[in-house]
Amino acid sequence: MTEKAFVSALKPCLVSLKAGRPYAWCSCGLSQKQPFCDGAHQGSSFEPLRYVPERDEDVLLCACKQTQSAPFCDGAHNNLSDTYAEAAPEDFADAAEVDYTNSEDGEFQTALLDNGCYVVRDNGSLQFSNHHVTIKKNISDETGARHLAQYVAQISQGESPVLSFPDSEVVIYIAAGNGNINISGETMVTPVETGIYVCADEAFRLTNLGSDELKAIITVCPGNVELQLLDEMPDNFNSELKSRSATYDQSKRDTMADRHLLELVNSDLGCEQVTQFIGEVPRSRAAFHHHLYEEAIFIMSGEGMMWTTTKKTKVVPGDLIFLPERQAHSLECTDSSGMRLMGVFYPAGSPKVNY
Ligand code: FES
Repeated sequence: MTEKAFVSALKPCLVSLKAGRPYAWCSCGLSQKQPFCDGAHQGSSFEPLRYVPERDEDVLLCACKQTQSAPFCDGAHNNLSDTYAEAAPEDFADAAEVDYTNSEDGEFQTALLDNGCYVVRDNGSLQFSNHHVTIKKNISDETGARHLAQYVAQISQGESPVLSFPDSEVVIYIAAGNGNINISGETMVTPVETGIYVCADEAFRLTNLGSDELKAIITVCPGNVELQLLDEMPDNFNSELKSRSATYDQSKRDTMADRHLLELVNSDLGCEQVTQFIGEVPRSRAAFHHHLYEEAIFIMSGEGMMWTTTKKTKVVPGDLIFLPERQAHSLECTDSSGMRLMGVFYPAGSPKVNY
């Protein structure tokens, strides 16, 4: 019979590793020096796993010993219980509720939480508009993002201009409406709840083919580039990456305790820097946790409360949350029918990895 590793902890260990230095990761779970080996496996079938980083790095090493990507956490710890780790009431006792304040032009509202985390209501600052298209920006380096920028395009009818973010990868989510996208000369249909990947040197145009508004959340990485409107569509579709989109499919969801996740845009579509996913959360208030990534979250349905260390604010469908790397947070769902959200984050990886 295969020996089972001991679950030494229900979360990974965040450690700073030095380039070229050998590390021995504990695979049995019995070491007193987690996540590293102290020899406690002796006499068992376990062996430590040797790892030599190529560069100095901060990584999450698995402490539950159930990962399939040893020595790194792959999120398997979330499935060691039936429900996602819930908050202790005392952890949340001192958070002050933050109100939304109007932008200077009165077009949108922002609620500022701890350490640069914020929520934007009504899409953000206007970047472009004509009779039937508006493009607004809600995340950029001007608002504290280090890696991402995010725009919201709303198209009541017809098509957008040709849009380009030179040298940046672009990941789009169709939040409402039905239409298509032309990426550098190639057209593909984009039903609602589709994620789309546009390569770094390509341009794109969104077209609304229905009677309802088409709403697209456009995430750009790196985000410190200007949106360009081109006179013509370039003819440089990267045909090595033919498959560019994935549409929500309930049968493909992954579980994370009592939550569901589905990655739409990731390395399978050729996207190198970011991952886009849909998350489904029951009514719950998760324990404070962190990610090593910078994230943007769009609330699709359900109401709740976004908590950071000392602040909280209500969130409703349509709100956009910016979450800096390593920020302690909890996105509480207060809705009996649950919450659905779209998240996109840098660097790419699994949305299940948290600490
Ligand atoms: S701590 Fe083991 S998979 Fe995350």
